[in-house]
Amino acid sequence: MNILYIGGGFVGACSAAVSAASGHNTLVFDIDTKKMEILSSNDRDTIESCLFEKGLGDLLVKNTERIVFTSDYAQVDTFLEKCDVVFMCLPTPEIGETGESDISYYNAAAEKLAESLCKRNAGTQEKYIVIANKSTVPIDMVDKTAHIMDSAGVKNYGVVSNPEFLVEGKAVQDSLKPDRVVVGASTEKDFSVMRQMYQRFFDSPDAKYIEVNPKEAAAGKLLANFYLFNKLAVCFDVIGRTCEAFDDLQFEQLRKILIGDKRIGGWGFYNSMYAGGSCFIKDTRSLAHQLQKAGKAACIVEESYLANKRQLTLFLSRAKTEADISWEGKTVALIGLSFKRDTNDVRNSPSIDIVHTLKEEGVKNILAYDPVAKDNFAQHFPDAKTIVYVDHEYEAVKDADVVIVATDWPQFRGLADMILENGSTPLIMDGRRMLQHRYSDLQASGCNIIAVGSPYFS
Ligand SMILES: NC(=O)c1ccc[n+]([C@@H]2O[C@H](COP(=O)([O-])OP(=O)(O)OC[C@H]3O[C@@H](n4cnc5c(N)ncnc54)[C@H](O)[C@@H]3O)[C@@H](O)[C@H]2O)c1
Repeated sequence: MNILYIGGGFVGACSAAVSAASGHNTLVFDIDTKKMEILSSNDRDTIESCLFEKGLGDLLVKNTERIVFTSDYAQVDTFLEKCDVVFMCLPTPEIGETGESDISYYNAAAEKLAESLCKRNAGTQEKYIVIANKSTVPIDMVDKTAHIMDSAGVKNYGVVSNPEFLVEGKAVQDSLKPDRVVVGASTEKDFSVMRQMYQRFFDSPDAKYIEVNPKEAAAGKLLANFYLFNKLAVCFDVIGRTCEAFDDLQFEQLRKILIGDKRIGGWGFYNSMYAGGSCFIKDTRSLAHQLQKAGKAACIVEESYLANKRQLTLFLSRAKTEADISWEGKTVALIGLSFKRDTNDVRNSPSIDIVHTLKEEGVKNILAYDPVAKDNFAQHFPDAKTIVYVDHEYEAVKDADVVIVATDWPQFRGLADMILENGSTPLIMDGRRMLQHRYSDLQASGCNIIAVGSPYFS
């Protein structure tokens, strides 16, 4: 089949790579010219310097004959002559803190697409085409997309909702072996095109292939993200908080007790100072907004958002309230800049808020380290003289008054040894419980410790 992706970010690029690997002739269009050049480079390291996703570089290099990245819309026009499916993979961020999704990127791309679709096949539009939405959008977006197409005079098309469930850091693996593929369509014709598109999953015993209507598909994505986000919020704000409130409750021990019950399940059972990233927060906010707009209560949905926000504020405030530390003039090691391990994505990374807070509080220096996210992070602070980016976590911790562990990269578990060998006694603020196996050693060596899910150790 001939497949077009509009938007070549995390979702577009990873899905397109898998589409090419499935044998489809694939074109990716994005307005970001530099990104398209990098993704076309045919060099794994260059590709991963832009989109750090395990396996993406190799997959693109291996399938280079079946995939083209472009910023030239003329190539889209030509491709549309024979195109079977267009996937919309546009960003849908929150507008400010309103909860409302910003669908302007989506609309701009859809309007341009509509113009081109009208011209295909010398204006006859005889080739049937499916417009499949992969962006996470408001539940009624299918109607809005059809309205854009109809208003422009597009004929012979269908609109499908095909939400994406990949997890950043495992995006390629998830796209190659999804646990489920959800296709929301209104006609048998559209279901049949999508089955052909996803033939490798439709017949597979490993992936659940779920066919529903387009609004159920869109709602299912929002509800799934809220459900996962809420699980994290409960873990941080209730279970972690209980462990912070009482001596002799170790988070990891309570975890064992709780996940021993299959009904509770193991996913998301870790404690963190914040659940960031590009999806959970905005999708939860969008769900709350849509419920409220429909005149319904969204109390639990709103509260999970507030609990997550509260978690970061509380964590940082413990430096003053429990350790009696003033940030002014301090040198702080900030360990981890991406919103989680295995990605260079810094959208909604807690480290961004941490830097803002520390700067306001008058820290002297922030020694920042991350294995892959430095460049993306630096774009948020182009003029920040307070931040010094270092090449190894050791360089960050060796002269620090306070060490903040902000991302769960596995190698950060070795930080305790570095601190102990260094002989320094910084305040350790473990926002991920990465050093929990060494808290007693660190405490014995003279370090005070503030950790999510533990009382203050002094
Ligand atoms: N990142 C994830 O883990 C994930 C998972 C599931 C679903 N989603 C959803 O998928 C959508 C895309 O997310 P993403 O993480 O890939 O975003 P992204 O920001 O990484 O990529 C979006 C791309 O769209 C491009 N773009 C913007 N306007 C355009 C236009 N008019 N024409 C062509 N390209 C345009 C941008 O340049 C960017 O490269 C969002 O709705 C998101 O909620 C994301």
